[in-house]
Amino acid sequence: MGRLAITYGGRRFVISVFDSFELGVTRARAASAPKFRSIAVVGLGYVGLPTALALLESGTRVVGYDISESRLAAIKAHRVDLPDADQVQLTGCLETGRLSLTTEASALSGVEAVVVCVPTPVDEHLVPDLAALEAACSTAVAHCRPGQTIVLVSTTYVGCTRDLVVRPLERRGLVVGRDVFVAFSPERIDPGVRHIPRSAQRVVGGVTSLCTCRASEVLNATAAGIYPVSSPEVAELTKLLENTFRAVNIALANEFAVVAGLFDLDIIEVIRAAATKPYGFMPFYPGPGVGGHCIPCDPHYLLWQLKSRRVTPPVTDAAMAAIAARPRLVVTRAEQLLAAAGRSLSGSRILIVGVAYKPAVADSRGSPALEIIDELVRAGAQVAYTDVLVDRVCTAGGVLTTKPRPAEGDWDLVIVHTVHPSVDHSWLTQAPMVLDASYQLEHLDHRHVV
Ligand SMILES: NC(=O)c1ccc[n+]([C@@H]2O[C@H](COP(=O)([O-])OP(=O)(O)OC[C@H]3O[C@@H](n4cnc5c(N)ncnc54)[C@H](O)[C@@H]3O)[C@@H](O)[C@H]2O)c1
Repeated sequence: MGRLAITYGGRRFVISVFDSFELGVTRARAASAPKFRSIAVVGLGYVGLPTALALLESGTRVVGYDISESRLAAIKAHRVDLPDADQVQLTGCLETGRLSLTTEASALSGVEAVVVCVPTPVDEHLVPDLAALEAACSTAVAHCRPGQTIVLVSTTYVGCTRDLVVRPLERRGLVVGRDVFVAFSPERIDPGVRHIPRSAQRVVGGVTSLCTCRASEVLNATAAGIYPVSSPEVAELTKLLENTFRAVNIALANEFAVVAGLFDLDIIEVIRAAATKPYGFMPFYPGPGVGGHCIPCDPHYLLWQLKSRRVTPPVTDAAMAAIAARPRLVVTRAEQLLAAAGRSLSGSRILIVGVAYKPAVADSRGSPALEIIDELVRAGAQVAYTDVLVDRVCTAGGVLTTKPRPAEGDWDLVIVHTVHPSVDHSWLTQAPMVLDASYQLEHLDHRHVV
């Protein structure tokens, strides 16, 4: 097996001749039959289900393994948050049996590759909760058979792929890079937007170059192309950089929104003007805070890991603190506006427009709206919400259900949190006081911003 230098994705790699052949196959295979006939996706959530659909599109048979019976039942009943075109594909694949759903871990030993997409949240102390990932990796390792490829997709700390997959496989006597193949490849899905396989490149870092090749072949159908990196650790840190970059820039946009307010300027006009610069600037917009499973969590994996080295990266740390404080700032602003009108939070009727954590998703997990509602209720306000995609939310004060006809309510204050596409917000022109924490209703004359 000779050595060969190649340049790929703007980088130079020295790999074996055998591996370069494999890599060539990877890039050439888009229109050909799938190299892997069966792939298991472990965890069929927001990432796993679209990943399974992208793999199915390439002709591969997919085993969807999840520990949650109710999640699998919801998928079978089409009660899932997917764009219409994906729903149609899902129905077809379930009917033909090309997608099988199971809670039986033994099904993992019957496939050629395993892709792990389980949640990696943080706990209430912002410490990474690795329970799901540890359990999923331990299952994958226990059922791994020679020849299999295992790819971790869940966002995690640097070195996790080696800790949770490589070392346990070695303890089983399997040599990674020879008997089995292991890589990390972060997910770049944008929830609410159809998971079009060719929409983004995918970073893949294998334990060996052959691992990278095998993992690239597994994931080729889920991406516009493969960007190989030299190790799982590089791929793990790449994901943390991507999402920390977003966190820092969102925090900066929020900070500048406050600054613009001090000068009585419109922050959106300022950001749009700055975005005309052809280099060195990327627009990020202020809002009520960040929710979902990525931005509020992922940088904490880095902060937590660096604590063991007694290092606190100050920019990341400050950005995460600022992001966490943002919902409380929305409440403070609401309090100020009501006070100016001679009212207090206590007893005021407040409507939240949109509680999903971002437009076009039916997901309110981690949404800043929940913290805003809890704070308002604690202060004695009567809080209701309207959201065409979210029927009910659990708050500290109990379960709230959406108000389908918000225009009919008598509100002292309306707080706009999430603006879903195609929703008619014209009734807000009649609302007496609007706090637009989304910064998106710029045509509303009498709105206030945070
Ligand atoms: N949601 C996003 O927008 C997004 C984007 C990029 C990356 N990610 C990352 O992808 C990973 C998955 O996130 P998600 O949003 O899909 O999570 P999710 O909560 O939507 O779904 C995870 C699924 O995994 C299942 N699961 C949990 N433990 C399991 C186990 N031991 N074995 C099998 N299944 C198990 C759950 O039942 C659930 O159905 C996370 O690391 C997240 O940070 C998410």
